[in-house]
Amino acid sequence: MVRGSGILAVAILGLSACSTRTADLADCTTYVAAGFRKIADERAQRFLGKVQEDTAQCRGGDRAVAFRSTPWVDWQNYWAVGDSNSKAAGPSGEHVHLSPNGRGVDGALLDLEYQRIELIKFNLFDNSGTFAQYLRDRDHIDGAALKTWEEMRLPRNNPLYAAVGGNGTQLCRGELIRARMLTGICNDIKNPLMGSTGQMFARNVEFDTTFPESGNNFLVKNRHGDRLGLLKPDPQVISRKLLTRVQSDPAKCNDGRGLAGNSAKANCDYKKAPFLNVLAAFWVQFMTHDWFSHLEEGSNGPELIPMGCETEIEAGVEKLLTPERMKQLNCRPEDRIDKGLIGIETQPSTFTYAGQEYLSRAPKATQNKNTAWWDASQLYGFDEDSRHRVKRDPVDPAKFLLVSSPSGEAYLPLLQSSDPMNPQWAGQESVAFADNWSVGLSFFHNVFAREHNLFVDAFRERAAQTPDADSGLRNPATPSRIIEYKDVTADELFEAARLVVAAEIAKIHTTEWTPQLLYNEPLFLGLNANWHGLLKDFPQAREALEKIVVQNFGPSRDVKEATQWYSVFASGSGIFGLGNHVYADEPIFAAFDPAKEDLWDLSNPDHVNGGINHFGSPFNFPEEFVSVYRLHSMLPDLIELRDLNGDPNVISGKISLLETVRGKATGALRKGGLANWGLSMGRQRLGALTLQNSPLFLQNLSMPRLPGGSGKVDVLALDLVRDRERGIPRFNEFRRQYGLKQLTSFDDFADPHLPKDSAELAEQRRLIGIVRESYGQHRCDAAKVITKAQTNDDGTPINDCLGHTNGSMVDNIEDVDVVIGMLAEFARPHGFAISETQFQVFILNASRRLFSDRFFTSSFRPEFYTRLGYEWVLNNGPEKMIENGLPNGHQIEVMPLKRVLMRTIPELRRELAPVIDAFDPWARDRGEYYSLEWKSRNGAESDEAFTR
Ligand code: HEM
Repeated sequence: MVRGSGILAVAILGLSACSTRTADLADCTTYVAAGFRKIADERAQRFLGKVQEDTAQCRGGDRAVAFRSTPWVDWQNYWAVGDSNSKAAGPSGEHVHLSPNGRGVDGALLDLEYQRIELIKFNLFDNSGTFAQYLRDRDHIDGAALKTWEEMRLPRNNPLYAAVGGNGTQLCRGELIRARMLTGICNDIKNPLMGSTGQMFARNVEFDTTFPESGNNFLVKNRHGDRLGLLKPDPQVISRKLLTRVQSDPAKCNDGRGLAGNSAKANCDYKKAPFLNVLAAFWVQFMTHDWFSHLEEGSNGPELIPMGCETEIEAGVEKLLTPERMKQLNCRPEDRIDKGLIGIETQPSTFTYAGQEYLSRAPKATQNKNTAWWDASQLYGFDEDSRHRVKRDPVDPAKFLLVSSPSGEAYLPLLQSSDPMNPQWAGQESVAFADNWSVGLSFFHNVFAREHNLFVDAFRERAAQTPDADSGLRNPATPSRIIEYKDVTADELFEAARLVVAAEIAKIHTTEWTPQLLYNEPLFLGLNANWHGLLKDFPQAREALEKIVVQNFGPSRDVKEATQWYSVFASGSGIFGLGNHVYADEPIFAAFDPAKEDLWDLSNPDHVNGGINHFGSPFNFPEEFVSVYRLHSMLPDLIELRDLNGDPNVISGKISLLETVRGKATGALRKGGLANWGLSMGRQRLGALTLQNSPLFLQNLSMPRLPGGSGKVDVLALDLVRDRERGIPRFNEFRRQYGLKQLTSFDDFADPHLPKDSAELAEQRRLIGIVRESYGQHRCDAAKVITKAQTNDDGTPINDCLGHTNGSMVDNIEDVDVVIGMLAEFARPHGFAISETQFQVFILNASRRLFSDRFFTSSFRPEFYTRLGYEWVLNNGPEKMIENGLPNGHQIEVMPLKRVLMRTIPELRRELAPVIDAFDPWARDRGEYYSLEWKSRNGAESDEAFTR
């Protein structure tokens, strides 16, 4: 329903843009005459999100020009990409691409697409042994166009080795391709192992920039000197200084424990994001438990390691902490944690390409203990142990087992002693991914178990009405045999329901969670484009873009470049469903066209697999992706409890999240009921991702699984330790690697848009002072080159002085841990809950996990999902529903999580009626165009959350 404005439209319509403007006519003319930017050939020539002056003028006027000198991406300063104040006077809306507002939004989309193309081109580093082929090409096939790899074959010891072809060409078929396999094999039918449980995490950064702590090469040594180590700078000290939430009345917070009896008088201060609720925080944790895990059944290695609280930097010098200072800082030198699991740590081989030596993988690599696919494996399992915990209903095995509470509500059953489990999970619900359990995860697991069962009920109902009708489902072993509703087995239905639930979850994340996390018009359009296709309403524009692409590459259609441009084409048709219709004249990018004969054929492997693209590098999440999902600051310490049957505007109590973790979650959820927990977490704002805003309760989390030590761990310090164990480059090189501009001092973190005398800027400067105190400064040496990822604007190498005078004291901005740097980025595009650095990581990997998955592309078909399931995903439920009004100027369907909640918790329907996006605080008035104001909607004026 979203009518795209978009990139292709700007590409074509931009050519005549100048005729309609007067003030900035000359700038638009120059910009258009210069043509579109060429995709960089070399890493060091990347776009960096910075445009020419006339382009900035054309898309955002003087304001956009003024901020070109900052390190931050330019598009955030274009017209109409913020709230209504960002709009230029004059016409606006979707049909006016030539107006300033249209040029602003279209320009932002164009910048984002350039970034995505360059990220695909420069940031794929596979750790499973294929990297040399990617770089050097194989058998005259360009590396970036490779589609199969020896390394992605099932190994001989896999029980399905023979079934996929053994020693010969491996191809998954028959039962192996019907549904999502437990361990994630056979998603790509020609690369059976890809994305399956236990594969290596990939990297998005050059291998020789990983593990900076080990000083592996001269660039790393030049960049960091001897300043880094696993506990250098000290992680607990950083946590206490830069992450701790400062309390106005510490007694009322009690280190995150709140007051006795869940008293509403408790208070833990935290900085709140006005446009996101607590459900959004737990949603993303629920997602990460689907995508990745470094831990095996909630545990790491046997060895225990210290966690810091030993040293601090004072006047640039590292000093041991005295016992008094430890007490003052409130840190614990006795904390211990189990050492992170490492998959491979043998020295990687090297190879030479174009005169340069490369590592074939990172010096160490870790395994993803989960499937990398977006397959709802947190609900359905990813190995035998996790599947064992998934309980099916013995009465109808197509369903999850749900048990009735005394009040008659249906909940997931508890873990039994016979279930495989980590002892610290005792008392929790029995689910596939059970670690770091809390009431928030319990909420979503129960909601989606109910949704699964509701789908099964709807299917059974249709089967009862039309038992002899074609269910749409097919068995690839007998592709031409119609499977009628009455013949669908419970196992077949269970697996089809899994496909539906996984696709609903992916749709919620892409079109509801992310547009609220990145709350502005270009991202709303861009994300909906990823899903639905940007240009479904702009056929002429699409054809014209295809011409531009062909012109760019010439008639030869260079296969490597075509691979890179695939993402542009796909933003035309949408990734979701890409290749699930095949027409004689359009093999991949076809949108559904009832006038044409659909040639898609289940017995043709090239149709089943045809929509996917791995861009030359087998799909898995990179280590860096895990790092940017360390979003612990989103959690408040206390949840504000509300009662749907009383007055929802009243906060009746406040419960510490500590009282809702692990086994306690289950009792808390059942006591309050899903509706009240939904209401409470739906109305409360989550924690802003910024410095000195991380939960106190996580700094003091008890860890029953660990022997000895203090029995507690500071999870926020652990975030730093784990990143260091896994060799995440530190902040500045991380940005350079991802195609963003470096910072040259800590002062660059301050938001340049703020008035010089504002209180907000003063607070940012205070925090920046603590960053400087924590990471220190050093006397720089201009003779030391520190990176090869980028150069200075004049083409000279970047050196240790970062543009400052040789021999002067410079900030240790190179040493900042990524998690800290991201929280310190005060300058952000409008409505961005995350930083632009985090977002850059998402652009690449969020697209890739859709592009690589055949169940979201060419196998999104009734043959796998059933007809009902296929429609259920498209319509967000049994039938399509259109939202009232025009939120932010768009006619939209009622969003998918809102629909799921209305179905699974019908008591919430009234509360949800005025809600547009289930992740926006439910009682907030969304106001005008992308307003971030914290204002109550009609009927919630007395809600006390709006008085603070
Ligand atoms: C009550 C809530 C939570 C608790 C108790 C909790 C606890 C933990 C702990 C103990 C770890 C460290 C595991 C290890 O490396 O040994 C961890 C890792 C992590 N947490 Fe949380 N967490 C919570 C909520 C969240 C939320 C809301 C997010 C948001 C996305 C999140 C994201 C992560 C990520 C990405 C990791 C790294 C996982 C990996 O290494 O594979 N957590 N959490």
